[in-house]
Parts: sequence; C-alpha cells; structure tokens
Amino acid sequence: MMAQPLFDSTEFRQVCGHFPTGVTAVTAVTGDGVMAALTVNSFTSVSLRPAKVLFCVISSSSSFPILMESDRIAIHILGQDQEDVARRFATSGLTGAQKLDGVSWVPGPDRVPLLPGTPAILAGRRDEVITSGDHVIVVLDIDHVHLKPSSVPALSFYRGRFVAPGAPAAE
Ligand SMILES: Cc1cc2nc3c(=O)[nH]c(=O)nc-3n(C[C@H](O)[C@H](O)[C@H](O)COP(=O)(O)O)c2cc1C
Repeated sequence: MMAQPLFDSTEFRQVCGHFPTGVTAVTAVTGDGVMAALTVNSFTSVSLRPAKVLFCVISSSSSFPILMESDRIAIHILGQDQEDVARRFATSGLTGAQKLDGVSWVPGPDRVPLLPGTPAILAGRRDEVITSGDHVIVVLDIDHVHLKPSSVPALSFYRGRFVAPGAPAAE
C-alpha cells in the first residue's frame, strides 16, 4: 500500500513547475477526420536509434481518445512567437477542430495537421502506451522530422508562466 503524501497536489504542481520546460503543440487526426490539438510540456526525447520520443497526456482530456485512435501524431516545438497557439491549444471546452480553426495548418502524412510556422516538428506513430496514475505516457516512433531554417528561440514554461529564455523569473 502507498503511504499518504505529506503534500497536496497544488504543492506538487508548484514544485514540479520549478523545472523549466519547452512548450509543444501536439496534433492528431483519426481515420474519420476527428482532430486533436493540445499544448504539452511533458515532451522528451527517448531513443536516438531508433528515433523515439514521449509525452504524457491526462486520460480525462477530450484529446486522449483521439490520440489513441490516430494513425500518426505530430509534435511541434513552439517558438517564442507562438504563445497564442500554446494558449489556444490549452483551452478546454474547444474541440481540436475549433482550436485548429484559429491557426494556419496544412495536412501532413496520414493527414495529421502540421503548423508550418513552427521551428521544429516531429511526426510518428504510437509505439508504447503506458498508463501511470491519471496520465498516460505515449511513446512515438518518429518517422518524419522538419526544421524551419532561421527560426526564433523556443517558447518556455516556468513556474506556471510562459517565459522568454533569459527573462527574469516571475514572482
Ligand atoms: C504550458 C502547458 C503545458 C501543458 N502540458 C500538458 C501535458 O503535458 N499533458 C497534458 O495532458 N496536458 C497538458 N496541458 C493541458 C492541456 O493543453 C489542456 O488540458 C488541453 O486543453 C487538453 O484538454 P482537452 O483535450 O480536453 O482539450 C498543458 C497546458 C499548458 C498551458
């Protein structure tokens, strides 16, 4: 049996929020054309050969079942000029199609929505899907990568706020 933690989920979130991350936009589309679009900072690379990455998604999100049905998933590493995309894709209550309605996108392999203004894009197929607590770890086999030449620096997220690298920390 697990011991009861001596902290609550707000404190846990605050502590984890001291780890600065980049910000990604994840997109997917099912064979029936149902789209998902969500902001994710739990992205990390996993394996070089073969190329694998992972992200975590809360299983109660409306995006989750769509991600599980989609043939291909795309991960966009957002630039500092894409904070509006990060905020839009993190808006609960909007469908993936409604979130994508507000941004410029093109269909990629297997029609997965791609945001061409993004500094770096990875796309691939689901490998392992591991349930852990209230989240699911999604491991992807990457088969497409794209780098935008001379792009802006990456958008960051730190202590609950979007920040530009090098900017003073928010209180
Ligand atoms: C900076 C930032 C990072 C986020 N990272 C994650 C994440 O890693 N996993 C996750 O499930 N949700 C994450 N979210 C929340 C989702 O983007 C948000 O809940 C989204 O609306 C998905 O819910 P929906 O699929 O029900 O629309 C993040 C939000 C923000 C603002």
